[in-house]
Amino acid sequence: MSTSVDYTERIPNNVDLSGDRRLQRALESWQPKFLRWWGEMGPALPTRDVYLRTAVSVGREGWAHFGHVPLPEYRWGIFLAERDPDRRIAFGEHKGEPVWQQVPGEYRADLQRLIVVQGDTEPASVEQQRHLGMTAPSLYDLRNLFQVNVEEGRHLWAMVYLLHAYFGRTGREEAEALLRRNSGSDDSPRILGAFNEETPDWLAFYMFTYFTDRDGKYQLGTLKESAFDPLSRTCAFMLKEEAHHMFVGTTGVDRVVERTAQLMREHDTDDVRPYGGIPLEIVQKYVNFHYSVSLDLFGSETSTNVANYFTGGLKGRWQEERRKDDHLLTEDVAAVAQVRDGRVVEVETPALVALNHDLRCEYVADCQSGMNRWNRILENAGVDLRLRLPHVGFNRHVGAFAGHHLSPDGRLMSAEDWAARRDDWLPTEEDKAYVRSLMRPVYEPGKIASWVAPPRSGINGQPFEYEYVHLS
Ligand SMILES: [Fe+2]
Ligand SMILES: [Fe+2]
Repeated sequence: MSTSVDYTERIPNNVDLSGDRRLQRALESWQPKFLRWWGEMGPALPTRDVYLRTAVSVGREGWAHFGHVPLPEYRWGIFLAERDPDRRIAFGEHKGEPVWQQVPGEYRADLQRLIVVQGDTEPASVEQQRHLGMTAPSLYDLRNLFQVNVEEGRHLWAMVYLLHAYFGRTGREEAEALLRRNSGSDDSPRILGAFNEETPDWLAFYMFTYFTDRDGKYQLGTLKESAFDPLSRTCAFMLKEEAHHMFVGTTGVDRVVERTAQLMREHDTDDVRPYGGIPLEIVQKYVNFHYSVSLDLFGSETSTNVANYFTGGLKGRWQEERRKDDHLLTEDVAAVAQVRDGRVVEVETPALVALNHDLRCEYVADCQSGMNRWNRILENAGVDLRLRLPHVGFNRHVGAFAGHHLSPDGRLMSAEDWAARRDDWLPTEEDKAYVRSLMRPVYEPGKIASWVAPPRSGINGQPFEYEYVHLS
């Protein structure tokens, strides 16, 4: 296993693909299907080339190369983080044993399912974002969108490699199915709900890359701990790419908030609509929506499946090795919120079955850091309004709060009362239409749309005015 990537091959890789002819042929026959999918479901805006980073090594430093690339010629490849020959299983009943280089028969079905569910999210987001290029607020943003898109395509490759290399015929069938399901499709939708929602505008895109890609970070973090070493190493490298996606979300919302605050001060009003800005009230509703649908991705708070994944060593906790406990959790308990007799109460639950809850708590704390950051921007601009995360039980369709109606501040309500307040809390058709009305493309280098501030700096040391994208 080397840290550098072989680009002379049809499929760039650092897994010595040419050493396994059968696998190489199988993946080479999947490649044109992927490219067809990219052509049909990938970015709809025609471009000549885009300033993209491409992975050239998986090492700590200098893993990326930057240059203008025609999108369909992006070198999607297979990159696993370097193998640690001494790595041992960090948790569960196999704790202390060497990690697995092959899939143990007893865990085959479960591991394949975990990989398919993760793999399904990757192309889904590309499909959801297909039309956004038509309304990009700047060339800088357009480039970031395409960078995220090609990397999500590469994450699909990462999962497809595992399916082909380790799961035989059923793995190959699942790899085909990953291209057959489509986001929002009536007959064959994507597996998880949030990946069938549309991403109709750029505020939704920034929110998606903040909240939903961040869910991805936490899911990948648990798979990085896996005893199945190829999965662990794949996820370790995907996490490096994922960091940029979340940067796009974090700084995207920064720039919306900054612009709104600026207009509020300049015109001494909360309603910045006449000046082409997005009112904070709408930003808050988008936060409420994207946060709550992303929380659903963590599944039920309690799950015996997930307990079994942990005990079996398939999926660990966020930063498992930094946790100060026995990594078995057979004796531990956790307090999990439930709705009982019309009240939200904390129920003591065996820690092993509350692992989804554990992961969600890590995620919630991380999301709060974004709020703090955006509120600092408001404070520095002299604006009194603040953004906040809604209660975890708000607008939920999965887990303990599904079927209950909670306000953003966590009060239980009747379905009718909740419905009557819904439009105060979640984006209305009118809100979305207003945001859509602002979505007009700005393709001139150095120019930016009215509703968002320019970034502090460009990509890879280039200025904001750089021609990140050449349209065709
Ligand atoms: Fe991804
Ligand atoms: Fe991502």
